[in-house]
Formats: sequence, structure tokens, C-alpha cells
Amino acid sequence: MLFGQKVHPLSFEYATRSVVKADAVEISADSFKARIRCDAITDFCTRLTVENLNVKDPRNYSDGILDQYRQGSPVAAVRGKRVHFAAPSATIDVGPSSLAITLPQGLTIETTADGFGFNGLKTIFNFDVPNATGFHGFGERTKRFNKSGDSMEFHTVDVMGIWPHTYWRDDLDPTYVSIPLAILRIGNQCCGLYFDSPERLVMDCGQMRPGHFIVQSMDGHNHLYLINGPTLRDVVRNFATLTGRAELPPAWAIGYHQCRWGYETAEQFEALAADFARHDLPLSCLWYDIDYMDEYRVFTWDKKDIPRPRKLNDSLKRQGIKTVTIIDPGVKLDPGYSVYDSGKAAGIFCKTASGRDYVGQVWPGDTVFPDFTQEAAQEWWAGHVAHFLAEASVDGAWLDMNDPSTGWCDADDMLFDGGAIPHSRYHNQFGHFMAKATWLAFEKLDPQRRPFLLTRSGFTGTQRYSAIWTGDNDSNWSHLRMSIPCTINLGLSGVAFNGPDVGGFAGNTTPELLVRWYQAGFLFPFFRNHAVFNSKTQEPWQFGPGVTDRVRDVLHTRYRLLPYLYQCFFHNHLTGDPILRPLLYEFDERELENLDDQYMVGASIMAAPIVQSDAQGDFIVAGGVRRQLRHVTFPAGWWYDLTMGQWIEGGRTIRYAASMDEVPLFVREGAIIPWHNGALENGDTPLDDFELHVFLRTPSSQAAAILYLDDQKTRKYLTGDYNTAAVTISVTNTEATLEVTETGPRKPSKLDRVVFYGAPFLKTVASPRSKPRKLKAAHRRWVSKNLPVTYPA
Ligand code: GLC
Repeated sequence: MLFGQKVHPLSFEYATRSVVKADAVEISADSFKARIRCDAITDFCTRLTVENLNVKDPRNYSDGILDQYRQGSPVAAVRGKRVHFAAPSATIDVGPSSLAITLPQGLTIETTADGFGFNGLKTIFNFDVPNATGFHGFGERTKRFNKSGDSMEFHTVDVMGIWPHTYWRDDLDPTYVSIPLAILRIGNQCCGLYFDSPERLVMDCGQMRPGHFIVQSMDGHNHLYLINGPTLRDVVRNFATLTGRAELPPAWAIGYHQCRWGYETAEQFEALAADFARHDLPLSCLWYDIDYMDEYRVFTWDKKDIPRPRKLNDSLKRQGIKTVTIIDPGVKLDPGYSVYDSGKAAGIFCKTASGRDYVGQVWPGDTVFPDFTQEAAQEWWAGHVAHFLAEASVDGAWLDMNDPSTGWCDADDMLFDGGAIPHSRYHNQFGHFMAKATWLAFEKLDPQRRPFLLTRSGFTGTQRYSAIWTGDNDSNWSHLRMSIPCTINLGLSGVAFNGPDVGGFAGNTTPELLVRWYQAGFLFPFFRNHAVFNSKTQEPWQFGPGVTDRVRDVLHTRYRLLPYLYQCFFHNHLTGDPILRPLLYEFDERELENLDDQYMVGASIMAAPIVQSDAQGDFIVAGGVRRQLRHVTFPAGWWYDLTMGQWIEGGRTIRYAASMDEVPLFVREGAIIPWHNGALENGDTPLDDFELHVFLRTPSSQAAAILYLDDQKTRKYLTGDYNTAAVTISVTNTEATLEVTETGPRKPSKLDRVVFYGAPFLKTVASPRSKPRKLKAAHRRWVSKNLPVTYPA
């Protein structure tokens, strides 16, 4: 089947007979027999399993759902006009070819009369949802935030390899990651339909048939998890509970990263560190792309170019700069190369039907692939990774080409478990299991060390092991625009720690695009500039001081906000709340379903970056400065405009103007933002040294936040070694009071430096730990140099 193709609903057969057998309903027609079971998984989740008896091996090979939620308890099938399952979190009525699902708040989702049927191994579910207006989630996707009217395929691919002529467009599909989660918004209620299948699937949100949500699974395994809302936040948190929440990253990993395919020599890496310092640009990590290897042999160094990797990496570390190396899954088929020989001897490579090792074509030429799904191969791989990282003093691992990318060789020939398991069972999970095996290496090295991994391909639950970057994009405006909904939908699907190649990977960036991309991306969870070897160089200083200054502005602001971002990561770890989130996550307003070019960072900061070129946008000239106009939607409430230093009343959309120096950033009334006001020390910038920046507009109001305080280095927080501080700041006409209630096993923190924004009525601040004193500042700006202007109407 070619990408983008589906099966016509009329090509399926639909059952006419059903009988109840034990806890299951059996349905049948001439070409199939199927068994339907229902399991209660949690108080917010019910699973429906539709087992096609034509399928020889009914086991589910998915590693998406956590072990403890895979079993469930069977729900009795009760005979009636339709067979009825009453689980604690949903009731389901099953006819021979139809389903009706009712969730606790009364939300009902029904299939059409011929709503599910079979065509050989293929299954169709055809939900009739004329009132569904929002379709979100779906993992890593291109195009818009709302998938209404769109159709998506779940089959991981090396996008640029598969679409060399069109990857630069913004409508490609599928992508590198498969997470078959659909979040439907009907009225103002949301629910999640998660198809726990590692195999090829199609989800069509009204493209084939308007008003219908159609799922086609291609290989006969159907495990549908019904996840309750009613809010978007409920669905996302519940899905995160089922599939696992990410651990906290090491502090340096949330700083700024610099990469380029083409950094080759030790001198280049030393020069990069010096250039960043010379330009006063903070930098937490430098990345080694494939050039560091000896003829692309994994776990080797090209000693001509980098004679002493450990020495180099340690010297960078002394400057606060960590290093990450790319690690591709393919092992060069090269007898005499020790990694190949040891893998061959251990028999851990994937096989073909002929019983030989599967061979693909990747960077080193003929390449074999460890079978990461098997424990022996995971152990073998983890041993190599651990040794490699330790020996060269490398801080993190970058997992690429794991979609898996096999060049001109058909990946379908790659079999698992010694040839016993067909490719389709693990195709979409190849990157996921590679991440798991690599993660084990970090555990081996030091169980207290926080792993940092970045992977291109992934599956449901990959956040348990790795962050994701969204693959090979292009240096163009539509890819800049697309990066916002892409990161948001991936965050709603469990993988909060993600981001694009800033500046664009392929093609040549321009000074304007580079500045706007930094401004749009500097608060994304993962923040890395990366480009292909034959593109124009795009380090921040490559286009002269104007560009460097503007990039410096946002880099500094990110480092000042690292304590806030760290809190967002902590919240994500504890609850599943994404870091970059749609406005819809915080405000339940219908028009926000379609907002593609604004986002929230945590619960308090809203960004509305400029994402089109000046040549295309409307502009005004004010105070002699040219400013591009865009619409900004302000949800209800009051927002502090950090550029203009004034409050804006929400509940409306206005035209807003921003010069090349400005990033439209707004803070919600009542927010408390931890802000680092000390020296920026690259990847060693402390995250526990911060002021509390408070946004209060009126006398007699209050701001509040919950802060999590741990050692920011180890994994001890996993066993409860962190404090929780409830911070409240109340103001009257003349005074502010800070109250901190901190609980937990750690020494209490010093949380008494407060800076107010937009509250000129205040004169003093009192806190339990310090005497009343003068305020530090008001109307401070984060990013911007220009003077305020009045808004155009
Ligand atoms: C792939 C990666 C890209 C990397 C290149 C060379 O295209 O997606 O990020 O630079 O391979 O390793």
C-alpha cells in the first residue's frame, strides 16, 4: 500500500451475527470471525479488544502502555438488544457491526450502523462524530494543530530519505514517530482514543467522509483504550499515566545546544566554544554528528581529526559545555571491526526470512542492525554505549536513523527474534527499543546519573527513555510555522521534551529567518540549532552583529528563565502536563482549537512570535522603527506585555506590532516566574538561584505558585528527595507579603527575592524571612530594546 492510500469503507465486510460467549461477543460474516472483549484498566480508562480470528498470532507487541496497565480486569458481557459492557469509566454497547461508547460526563461516541468490519487482516472503525470540532494529539505530525479534515498514517519513516523531492513542503505524512492517540473535542468535552498498535494504521478525521473519524488498522491487532476527559488536560494527564511520564533531564540539557553535520575536528570544537564565549552567547552543549566516527563505524572516533576525544570533552566540560555524540543503530558489516565481530558472535543482529543477517545501506555502506527488541541485544548494546560514553567522557546520546532508515533496502525484510517475528510488529517501535537499550547504558554507568538521550524515531511511551527532535526540516518559513503545532501535538501525546532544528536543517537560512526562528523557538523544551553539511553556516554570528545581538537577547532570556523551565519539566514529570502547550490547554474556548501560531510555556507565559517574513506581513513604522503586524489572541483575563510594559485585557484578538528586536511575550496576571539574575555559566548555570518575578495588576490581589526544589543533579527526586514550596504573594495598596510553605526532606530554600511587574502602586515588600525593603524593579523587560508604541487598531 502506498503512503496516503486507504481502503474504501465499502471494501470491508460487516458482520450480521453476534453471540455472547463467556465475557466476549463473537461476531461473524462470510469472510471473518472476530471476538470482542472489554477490560477495565483504571477508573479513567477502559480497553476494548477486537480480535480478528484470521490473525494467526494475536499477541500485542506494543510497548506503549506501562506493564501495570496492560492486564486490566474483564468486564462481563450482558446480553440485550446490543451486548452491553459496563466498565467503571465507560459503558459500551456492541452490535454485530456497530459500537456506542458512553463516557461518564455523558459524552457519547458512536460508530455508523456498519461501523466496524474486516477485510482480510484489515479492520475499520468508522465513528460518526458530526459534532467533533477538535482533533489533536496524534504524536509528531506536520501541518496544523487541529487535524479536522486531515488524514494521517502511522508508519515511521526517514522523511527526507523517502521524499527527497518534497520533504521541504509542510504537508508530508507520515513522519518519524508513531503515537496513535486521537484526542477528540466534542462540545466542550474531550476524550482520548488510543489505538495501542505498533503496526501500520491510518486515522482520518473527516477527509474521507466529513463528520466521520475513521481508523483503519492494517495488521489485525486492535486494542482501543478509551481515555476519559472531560478536559484536554484530563485526557493528556491520563494518557501520561498509562504510558509513563518522563524523568527529569540533567540541567544542562534544557540549555542551548549547537550542532552541525560538518563539525569534524577538535580545533573546530575548540573554536566553537571560544566563539560562543567571545560573542557572549551561553551554550550548554556541543554535538558530534557522524563526522567524528572512523568511516561511520559506530563506537569509534576518527583519531586523525579528534586524536584525544576525552581530553577535548573534558576541556569543554570545564567551560560548562557538555557533549553529545550521534549513535546510529546500523553496525558496519565489516569482519575485523570489533563491534561487528562481537555482535555477530553474540547473534544479536536482525535476520531475514533466509536466516541470514538483514543487511541495509546506511552511512557506512552495508550495515546490519541489532535486534533491540531482544534482551540479549539490549544488554550487548548497553555495554558498548556505556563503555563508549565513559571512555570519551561524553554526556549524552543522539539516536538517529532508527525509523529504521535502511537506504535502498526494503525494511520489511528485517525480522525480529531470530526471524520469528515479522517486521510490521516492531517497525514503528524500532527507535523506541533502541532508546530503551541506550537508556540502560546510563543506568549501568551510574544509576544516579540523569540520562540524556535524543531520538529521531519513537513510539508511544518513548518519553520514558528519550527526548525527541522532530527530524530533518528545511530552512523555510512554513517549516518554522509548522514547528509550533508539531511540538504542541507531540507534547499532548506524552513527549513534552521535544523541538525542531532551529534555523532549519536543509537548505540555506537567511538572517531574517534565523532571527525569527530563534525568537519563536527559544522557549521550546528542546532548543538546538542544527544544519546539514552543504547548507550555509548558521551559527548565531554568521550573519553579522545585528543577527548576533538579537540571538543573544533570546539566549540570555532563556538562561534567565531556566529555573522556570525546570519547574515546567518538574510539573511534566509529576503530572504529564506538557511544557509547550496550546492555549486550549489552559482556556476552554472553541476558537483556540485552531490557533497554530501561539503557545503557552507552562501555565504562565504566552508567546505569539512573528512567523512570516517581513516581505509578506503587514507592517507599520512607529518611532522610526519598522514593525511587523500580526494577530494575537488573548484569552480572558489580563496579560502583561513584556515588550511594552503594560497590561492588556484579554478575551479579544488584536493586531500587534513587533520589530525585528521584539518577541511578543505575555505573562498571565497572578503568575510567579522564577528568574535567574546571576551570572550565566553555560551548562552549569545554577537553577536554584532565582528571583520570583510577580505579575500583579491591582491592589488587593494575589499571585501563587507551587515550586519543586531538589538537587537538580541526581535521580534522588524519584524516591521523594525534593521539597514542595507553596508560594503566595499578596499585595495591598502599599505593601506586599510573601508567604512560603515548604515541605519535604530537604533544607528549606531561600525564596525571598521578589520583583514586581506592572504594579506601580507598591512601595515595599515584606517577607517572613527578610525585613520589609525597597522593591528591586518594576516594568522590567525580558527581551527588547525599543521604546513602547501604541497599538494600531
Ligand atoms: C540524518 C539526521 C540529521 C543528521 C544526519 C547525519 O539526516 O536526521 O540530523 O545530521 O542524518 O547524521
